Amino acid sequence: MAAYIPEEKITAIKNASDIVDIVSETVSLRRAGRNFLGLCPFHTEKTPSFTVSPDKQIFYCFGCGAGGNVFSFLMKHGGLTFPEAVNMLAGRYGIDLPTRNLSHHEKKKLTERETILTLNSEAMSFYRDCLLSDEQGKQAKGYLLKRGMTRKTIDEFKLGFAPDGWDHLVRHFRSCRKPVEMALQAGLIVSRKKGEGHYDRFRNRIIFPIFNGQNQTVGFGGRVMDDALPKYLNSPETPVYNKSRSLYGLNRARQKCRETQTVYVVEGYFDLLSMHQFGIENTVATLGTSLTADHVQILKGFVGEGGKAALVYDSDQAGIKAAQRSVAVFQKGMLEARIMVLPKGHDPDSFLMAYGPEDFLKAAAQSMGMIPFMVESAVEKHGLSIDGKVRIVNDLKSAMLAIGDPVARSLRVKHLAERLGVDETVLLQKIQRTAPSPAKATWLQGRPGVIKASKPPPVRGETYRLERQMVAMMLQFPEMIADIKRRRLMDHFTDPVLAEIGRGIIDHFAAADSDIAGLVSRWDDPEKKAMVARLSLTDEHWDRDGCMNLMTQFERTIRRKDKALQMRIEAAEKSGDVDLLAVLLREKQQQARKTVEKQSGANH
Ligand code: UTP
Ligand code: MN
Repeated sequence: MAAYIPEEKITAIKNASDIVDIVSETVSLRRAGRNFLGLCPFHTEKTPSFTVSPDKQIFYCFGCGAGGNVFSFLMKHGGLTFPEAVNMLAGRYGIDLPTRNLSHHEKKKLTERETILTLNSEAMSFYRDCLLSDEQGKQAKGYLLKRGMTRKTIDEFKLGFAPDGWDHLVRHFRSCRKPVEMALQAGLIVSRKKGEGHYDRFRNRIIFPIFNGQNQTVGFGGRVMDDALPKYLNSPETPVYNKSRSLYGLNRARQKCRETQTVYVVEGYFDLLSMHQFGIENTVATLGTSLTADHVQILKGFVGEGGKAALVYDSDQAGIKAAQRSVAVFQKGMLEARIMVLPKGHDPDSFLMAYGPEDFLKAAAQSMGMIPFMVESAVEKHGLSIDGKVRIVNDLKSAMLAIGDPVARSLRVKHLAERLGVDETVLLQKIQRTAPSPAKATWLQGRPGVIKASKPPPVRGETYRLERQMVAMMLQFPEMIADIKRRRLMDHFTDPVLAEIGRGIIDHFAAADSDIAGLVSRWDDPEKKAMVARLSLTDEHWDRDGCMNLMTQFERTIRRKDKALQMRIEAAEKSGDVDLLAVLLREKQQQARKTVEKQSGANH
């Protein structure tokens, strides 16, 4: 573990932080008994198996096997390194961290992302000052007002202005002694093609800072104020800005998404600003990239179980295309979505400015489900000639098959048959015949960048099952640990991983408290962390008698195994099979030696 953050600081941070609090920022959780349940952010699922235990301060997904403590969660979900996770929690819970004593390399790695974030935040303030200052920002302010943006919106979204000219930001960074190299990495400035030096990426543009879920400035968009091209310029991908995971407005949408269990997805900066300004704050924007599987997982976390998304697209051809692509992504991600197509020539911003939020919400209430939307757009595309109908059915086959619920599927098929005027059974046959179950196969594929679902457990015998139960018992009923030590049961474990975890538990609880989140930190290997989390959360109802029984049963199998070996030795003696006898005796000796070694090790 990172040696340069003192162990006691890590403990202090762990004790101060609340895993439910941290996980709730990105995953909607509901209480279920002593634990919290939600849709797993690490794999695609429809019914929650992602469990967070406030008592134990750990999480575990019974669907994909991801598990760990608050640090592991931030590392896996936020893509943070361990020091970054520690830093983030320290900042959040007001714990000071010593930053000296870092090696050069450690410092560099730790600070690269932080430096970029700091520079971004500095740039955000700079652009803001430029917008608000009288001379420079006049035209930009005029533009925003003309587009109907209020002072409140400008403040809340920290809109800014990048002045005309080549090096305003470069000079600003120089004057406050910020590292130019890092500004380059942050994508804020660009190297001159000829000669040396740098120039500002954003010039004479309205600036839209892009924030992540933690309100950090990760990137920028910039719009011209006339018809110049490109209309919008965006930050490049950087160590802190990943387009396929970023959504504009996410930081201000959370609360309302929870309340309404709905999120509107729009396409543009101004669309998002208008939606929020008109009080429809459960809105995010995808910013020039098409919607990704990662976006869908993030949105699922926001709206929670049973929640849904509403896609709002322009009714132009590009908008319809984008909506169709997104529908497929929602289907794969198993998030229910409705599609709202605005009247011709309108995007959400222009619609709201023209008709106001009541009309928008009325139109939203009329929006189509994914399948009807796909049916209608296929009808529009192919027409209802015989050829057209054949093409429509071909286009819709896989989407129909992807409907998980059989009742819903059959109703959809019926509806399609009626819409096309074809016989329902023929349609059904056609759909099912061409079905190598494509949808399921894609659902189960892992997504890059996210921890993979753990392999299916190998088939293991009774001994393994008992050993697992013993470890689960030690985790959930630490009172029993003394008995386990006294009876030397650990010495008889056959599975090396379980044995290692078992000994770790004994050491951990002997040293200090019965804190499982701390125990999870003992192992660097995520599989072991997850194993500890899982065994801590198994749904067994331990009581003292049950524990005693388990231990007795465990001892009985040890004795049975000893006895079996003994019997094989006797049989070998009797039959005079000297070779076999030698093998068996060695086995017995090894068993004995192992026991002695383990005991002296444990006594140490
Ligand atoms: P639109 O061209 O529909 O613009 O692009 P808009 O959002 O309605 O903007 P206004 O109302 O004309 O000001 C939709 C989104 O696509 C991205 C931007 O995120 C934009 O908001 N885009 C568009 C770019 O990234 N680059 C471009 O050159 C154009
Ligand atoms: Mn627009």
